[in-house]
Amino acid sequence: MDLQLRGRTALVTGSSAGIGYAIAEGFAREGAKVVVNGRDAERLGQARERLLAAVPGAEVTGVVADVGTAEGAAAVIEAAPEVDVLVNNVSSFELRPFAEISDEEWERYFRTNVLSGVRLSRHHLDRMLARNSGRILFVSSDAAVDMAVEMLHYSVTKTATLALARGLAELTKGTRVTVNAVLPGPTVTEGVAGMLDGASAQTGLTRDELEARFFAENRPTSLIQRFATPDEVANLVLYLASPLAAITNGAAVRAEGGVVRSVL
Ligand SMILES: NC(=O)c1ccc[n+]([C@@H]2O[C@H](COP(=O)([O-])OP(=O)(O)OC[C@H]3O[C@@H](n4cnc5c(N)ncnc54)[C@H](OP(=O)(O)O)[C@@H]3O)[C@@H](O)[C@H]2O)c1
Repeated sequence: MDLQLRGRTALVTGSSAGIGYAIAEGFAREGAKVVVNGRDAERLGQARERLLAAVPGAEVTGVVADVGTAEGAAAVIEAAPEVDVLVNNVSSFELRPFAEISDEEWERYFRTNVLSGVRLSRHHLDRMLARNSGRILFVSSDAAVDMAVEMLHYSVTKTATLALARGLAELTKGTRVTVNAVLPGPTVTEGVAGMLDGASAQTGLTRDELEARFFAENRPTSLIQRFATPDEVANLVLYLASPLAAITNGAAVRAEGGVVRSVL
C-alpha cells in the first residue's frame, strides 16, 4: 500500500531509539523527509547513520535538543519550522512508588511528556490549519487508560496526552488537518531487549521463556501474549500520518495487543 507520504516532511521527537526511531525509519522508507531528535548527539548521529544504511538516499536531519525544555522545543522549531507531520513521541518513564515521586519529578514528567507536545503543536497546528493540511500524532500508552500504579506520574501524563490530542482535534473542525493519539503497549525496544538479555543471563531462562512468563504474570489480559516490535507500532503511526487516514480525527487508537479490556 502506498501511504502517499513521498516528499512530505515529518518531525519525530525522541527518535534516536525505540519506537521513535522505527517511526522515523518508516517515514524514510515511504519517501518522506524526516527530522530526528534526541538529547545525546552521539546517539542521534548513530541513529542517523543507521537510518541512512537502512534507507540509502533518505533525507534525514538531526536536531540535538531536550524537547522537555522551552529552549529545546525552540531549537527543534527553528530547525524544522514547517512540517507536514508532527509526531510527539518523546516520553520519560521509570518505575517509582507513588510516595517517592517528588514535586520536581512530577513537574519534569509534565514538561517532557506533555508540555513538549503542547509547545510543538502550538507552533505547528496554526500553520497546518493555514495550509489546510497536516497531521499531529501523540504517542501515548496503554498506561493512559489502565493506570500503571508502579509509575503513576507516567500514567497521568499519558492520560493528559489523550486529552490534549482530543482537544487539539476539536480545533481542526471542518479542515483537512487531523490530530490523533496512538496507544502502544509492551514493546520490545532496545532497552527492553537489553533487560531481557540481562534477565536471561541471570536466570538461565531463554528470552522466549521470560517473555511468556512476563505476559502470564504481568500482562495476563494481553491477547497477543508477546511484545510488539517498534515497527509494528510505527505501522499504525505511519498510516494515521498518511492522507489515507483522513477520516480518523480526535481518536485514541490502540496498538497494545488487546491488553486493555475494552470494546472502544
Ligand atoms: N516501549 C514500550 O513498551 C512503550 C509502551 C507504551 C508506550 N510507549 C511510548 O512510546 C514512546 C517511545 O517509547 P520508547 O520505549 O521507544 O522510548 P525509548 O526506547 O526510551 O527511546 C526514547 C528516545 O527518546 C529520546 N529522548 C528521551 N527524552 C528526550 C527528551 N527530553 N528530548 C528529546 N529526546 C528525548 C531518547 O534519546 P536521548 O536519551 O539521547 O534523548 C531516545 O531516542 C513513549 O512516548 C512511550 O511512553 C512505549
